Amino acid sequence: MRLRPKRGLFGFRTLAHPLQTAVTALQKANSLRARKGVRPITALTAYDFPTARLLDECGVDVLLVGDSLGMVVLGFPDTTHVTLEHMLHHVAAVARAKPRALVVCDLPIHSYDTPVQALATAEKLVAAGAEAVKLEGGIRQTEKVRAVTGAGIPVMGHLGMLPQRVLEEGGYHKKGKTPEQAEAIRAGAQALIEAGVFAIVFESIIPATARLLSESLVVPTIGIGCGDHTCDGEVAVITDLLGSYPWFVPPFARPAADLAATTREAVQRYISRVTNS
Ligand code: KIV
Repeated sequence: MRLRPKRGLFGFRTLAHPLQTAVTALQKANSLRARKGVRPITALTAYDFPTARLLDECGVDVLLVGDSLGMVVLGFPDTTHVTLEHMLHHVAAVARAKPRALVVCDLPIHSYDTPVQALATAEKLVAAGAEAVKLEGGIRQTEKVRAVTGAGIPVMGHLGMLPQRVLEEGGYHKKGKTPEQAEAIRAGAQALIEAGVFAIVFESIIPATARLLSESLVVPTIGIGCGDHTCDGEVAVITDLLGSYPWFVPPFARPAADLAATTREAVQRYISRVTNS
């Protein structure tokens, strides 16, 4: 087979080979892992082609096709309604933007109940365009992480508040408030690291615990709802940043725009123009 020379990561020439996507994804994940203690990681969720393209043009490091998709795009009350079909559809749209950023896709609830199922799901998402996958939970997930990383697919962990468990937990609660809770998160993180994750999302862990754990772990932590500069990077849900989903704004969100207001004004102007009113 003839291999086509291409510009690869950092401008090096690489060969277009059937395995190239996996190799490039691993390189991207490894270079993010190496950012620990060097430069904070920026991550944003993206669920469609134009958003992925815009965020990538801005230079964000990670595009997360999060299962927050269920709430902020598909109109479900929480992430427990998201299916693998939903994720496949949206990760494919994001991948069509051919981003430089690492495309990480959430494994939706009940798509990774066993190591075999976790690997099968991850492979389907990679075939659709994901470069890495994220799963929620600590010690109980280590065999699944091993199964997926063993096949060369980078895995990101997710600890603290786990949105896929919102029904069992009866809401979204802050984590890491007691020494026992902090120790449970640390043990989960250590188990995930030994299983091969390249980074871990910390969600809604109180700032003091998030900072302490981040300092002691060897992989980057990427915080959401953990306070400022307590982790090795931050992730935000894009609609929280842009103010385009005004019906539910988490208390920790920092909107940097008000696209809901901009949209309403534009639509009102359109209606007035069309109806001459
Ligand atoms: O689904 C998602 O958007 C996430 C972030 C909250 C990290 O998992």
